[in-house]
Amino acid sequence: MTAIETASLRPGYQISRLIKGGWQLATGHSDAASASATAEMGDYLDAGVTAFDCADIYTGVEEKIGDFRRDAMANGNDAQLDRLKVHTKCVPDLGKLATITKADVEATIDRSLKRLSAERLDLVQFHWWDTDVKRYVEVASWLSDFQKAGKIDLLGTTNFNTDCMDELVSSGFDAAAIQLQFSLLDRRPTKRMVDFCAERNIKILCYGTVAGGFLSDRWLGVAEPAGPLENRSLVKYRLIIEDMGGWDAFQALLATLRAIADRHGVDIASVAMRAMLAEPQVAGIIVGVRHGGHLGRHAALFDLVLDAEDHAKIDAALAEATPLEGDVFDLERDKTGRHGSIMKYNLNAA
Ligand SMILES: NC(=O)c1ccc[n+]([C@@H]2O[C@H](COP(=O)([O-])OP(=O)(O)OC[C@H]3O[C@@H](n4cnc5c(N)ncnc54)[C@H](OP(=O)(O)O)[C@@H]3O)[C@@H](O)[C@H]2O)c1
Repeated sequence: MTAIETASLRPGYQISRLIKGGWQLATGHSDAASASATAEMGDYLDAGVTAFDCADIYTGVEEKIGDFRRDAMANGNDAQLDRLKVHTKCVPDLGKLATITKADVEATIDRSLKRLSAERLDLVQFHWWDTDVKRYVEVASWLSDFQKAGKIDLLGTTNFNTDCMDELVSSGFDAAAIQLQFSLLDRRPTKRMVDFCAERNIKILCYGTVAGGFLSDRWLGVAEPAGPLENRSLVKYRLIIEDMGGWDAFQALLATLRAIADRHGVDIASVAMRAMLAEPQVAGIIVGVRHGGHLGRHAALFDLVLDAEDHAKIDAALAEATPLEGDVFDLERDKTGRHGSIMKYNLNAA
């Protein structure tokens, strides 16, 4: 089996290009989060997936990763831990953006350190719910201070659009990476963000690459779901499917991906993930894992090499889709809109 590829966010900072997503393990994401999550972290790490993603607002997930770290240390698996990079997020509550203080932010950083059982956070990705509250440059500068104080190794962002990223980076915020939605369904980053990141040496880490599981064989030839969906990712990406042209357009894309998968003897999800790893500036894809059932295909992902014919077929299929409106996360920033109204905004207070 081909080893999982690696990328560096900065010199000396290596990650696996497949990053294990943690939202799926959060309380409230779905009813079926794995009971053996801690053991599965070890299985992923052993398979070469050395980067895990989480957030201060993914309820219980930093703690689960901390448990995993403590267990590994107690069992003398220090070498295993040495390879691990844990990417968390700093997500101040919407209700506190206007009044949040440096001490408040430091308290959440200290809480992440404690929960993760870490002396220093590997990567902190900064999120700001409302860019009309013009304090994100100020709050980001506090994160830079905590980095200088040794509490954080690398800084990053998540879900800022290109104009706001420009403001942050021009203010001196040293973003090594931005985490954003980028998939065969959502091409918004190609409008401006990819070029901006290339100019500023910022790596892209994508979520949504399998659209909560929609971009898989499970949904090929299936009627549009009518009832409630099984988890929060599916709810989120169902809206993206509506925006990219609806269920028929989505089925046409799945059929193209199935034809490519047939050429290589793989599954649709692997083609969807591999295609995103070929995008310029993309260092890694963050794939949600609720249980160990996908590990075999995730570990084999790098055996798959898409060729020019495959990419031409994908490009032709994407040309048929409706482009999503706006820049990165612009649709989601409308709190009363279809995308914004399904999100939870004050989870740090919970
Ligand atoms: N910064 C942000 O705002 C933000 C937003 C969303 C996500 N994220 C990050 O990105 C991660 C990914 O989350 P996401 O919501 O974008 O979900 P996703 O990765 O697109 O989808 C995850 C789901 O897809 C299914 N899946 C995974 N691999 C598969 C495979 N090989 N074949 C078939 N199905 C497969 C699984 O469903 P089953 O469990 O049902 O099998 C899994 O739970 C999160 O954990 C989080 O770390 C960040």
